[in-house]
Amino acid sequence: MPSRTCLAIILAAGEGTRMRSQMPKVLHALGGRSLLGHAIVASRAAGSDDLAIVVGPGHEAVKADACTYAPKAQIFEQHERRGTAHAVLAAREAIARHVDDVVVMFGDTPLVRAETLSKLRGALANGAAVAVLGFEPADPTGYGRLLMRGNELAAIREERDATDEERKIALCNGGLMALDRKQALAILDRIGNANAKGEYYLSDAVTVARDMGLTAVAIETPEDDVRGINTKLQLAEAEAVLQQRLRMAALEAGVTIVAPETVYLSADTKFGKDVTIEPHVVFGPGVSVEDGATIRSFSHLEGAHVGKGARVGPFARLRPGTDLGKEVHIGNFVEVKEATIEAGAKANHLTYIGDARIGEGANIGAGTITCNYDGVAKHRTDIGKGAFIGSNSALVAPIKVGDGAYVGTGTVLTRDVPAGALAIARAKQTVKEGWAKRLRQVKALGKNLAGKKRKKS
Ligand code: UD1
Ligand code: MG
Repeated sequence: MPSRTCLAIILAAGEGTRMRSQMPKVLHALGGRSLLGHAIVASRAAGSDDLAIVVGPGHEAVKADACTYAPKAQIFEQHERRGTAHAVLAAREAIARHVDDVVVMFGDTPLVRAETLSKLRGALANGAAVAVLGFEPADPTGYGRLLMRGNELAAIREERDATDEERKIALCNGGLMALDRKQALAILDRIGNANAKGEYYLSDAVTVARDMGLTAVAIETPEDDVRGINTKLQLAEAEAVLQQRLRMAALEAGVTIVAPETVYLSADTKFGKDVTIEPHVVFGPGVSVEDGATIRSFSHLEGAHVGKGARVGPFARLRPGTDLGKEVHIGNFVEVKEATIEAGAKANHLTYIGDARIGEGANIGAGTITCNYDGVAKHRTDIGKGAFIGSNSALVAPIKVGDGAYVGTGTVLTRDVPAGALAIARAKQTVKEGWAKRLRQVKALGKNLAGKKRKKS
């Protein structure tokens, strides 16, 4: 965007009752990011310099979420829900500050792309006072209709206020709008509430602007950009659209995804070069995968970093705080949480590693468990470079195993092991020659006697 500056206002004072949820609507997630978070990220990508978010009274959780994505955003409260134009005016103070463009976005419209917002702003740069996103939905029920006069937008008619003729119009209001800041307050202040709902409609900015001798235009966009979310079904449909976009972006960036439709990504998933993802992998939020790594089937990752050339899965679970170094191998049924696994270390089978550091090149045998929790607090396990942990060992934390040390198979480790030492803690094995053979003979005798007894009776 050229030199024009921009204030984005995100309306998030919705009730969201049709979501049938205790949680505010804009906090529901798509691709591991809240609906509000998506709107905030899009506003930033479209080059907004300033951000105002309008929330309902007492919406502390919404404010907190807004702060995680935009710590500098100004939060305004709309004390009573009296319509979209009324909500925008809750941010009056922000509009009065000096910017060129005001872009109004909805907190429940998360799929709008930065390029679409930029087009709206482009219309203002070309002289329009109001620019609106238009689209042709598969089902127009509930949307405002765009009344065009030549190339100009004459009015937006909300469905409740529309005539039967007007309801036949296919081109609908996407809801998002850009206003020239110099006229914005004058327009917004003139909007009345003489309509079926008795609300102050932002969509009426169009007729008001025209009455003032200003120009309003519509920019057409695909439906996906302006999908509003009011129900769980719409949330699921939007998730499908987002997943498709994320998969396409990853493929275009050179990630090999064997069966893209089976892989679930988060909006913030990061991939290096030559990464391979096998079918049925889920990436929760906060995952980065470096060059040459392979994520094998049925793995679940969140809050994890996978180093260069590392191999994860099949059936691995990486939980938040996992940091895998270069060439690390994490195999089937291995769970890792809050742990750093240094270059070349391996945990290939059936293991839990939590609150730990595993040194470079260490080998963690099948069935190893770090016992990190004593029922009250979590404790750390530290395993040195090149150490070898025998299969089926339980490491009772806090505990340290020194560089190059050995822990014998089946050990319950409760004391630290110095570097280069062997620790083994298991019952001594007893061997009784011929014992099994004798047992079988005695059992067989017992059976024969019982059989004879039954025949007699
Ligand atoms: C709005 C448009 C409609 C458009 C549709 C697109 C108006 C009057 N209508 O209708 O033309 O086709 O979006 O999806 O603008 N909000 C507040 N405070 C309020 C009212 C709403 O913050 O007092 C917020 C809501 O949380 C939501 C957004 O504004 O994020 C839109 O409100 P909503 O009630 O969903 O408007 P629609 O009826 O969908
Ligand atoms: Mg809506």
